Amino acid sequence: MAENEVNEWRRVATLAEFSDSDMYQVHIDNHFIALFKVDGNYYATDDVCTHAYANLCFGYLEGDIIECPLHQGTFNVCTGKALSAPVIEDLRTYPVKVEGDDILIAYSPPEPVPPKA
Ligand code: FES
Repeated sequence: MAENEVNEWRRVATLAEFSDSDMYQVHIDNHFIALFKVDGNYYATDDVCTHAYANLCFGYLEGDIIECPLHQGTFNVCTGKALSAPVIEDLRTYPVKVEGDDILIAYSPPEPVPPKA
């Protein structure tokens, strides 16, 4: 399966989860996903920074930019693009849709990483 091929839509949150914050962390199959609300739209990325281990939902969101809480690297949460050092690898993103009061993401598990030789 290609990395971005839709496996299934999963209900992961409700709109009410965003009453106090524009960030919300969900857990799917041992995988942390970050949901962000930007200008009334919802976006989903991997929650773990691509630089080292930090949960981006504990970072600082300004507009569509999330700043990692550990080393202050930044990403665009709409595209997953890595924007500033020390991050160089983009975040994986997931399609998001809203049905009624529910937020769904098109989740597919990450491709397995081959063992290092
Ligand atoms: S862990 Fe995120 S910038 Fe280092």
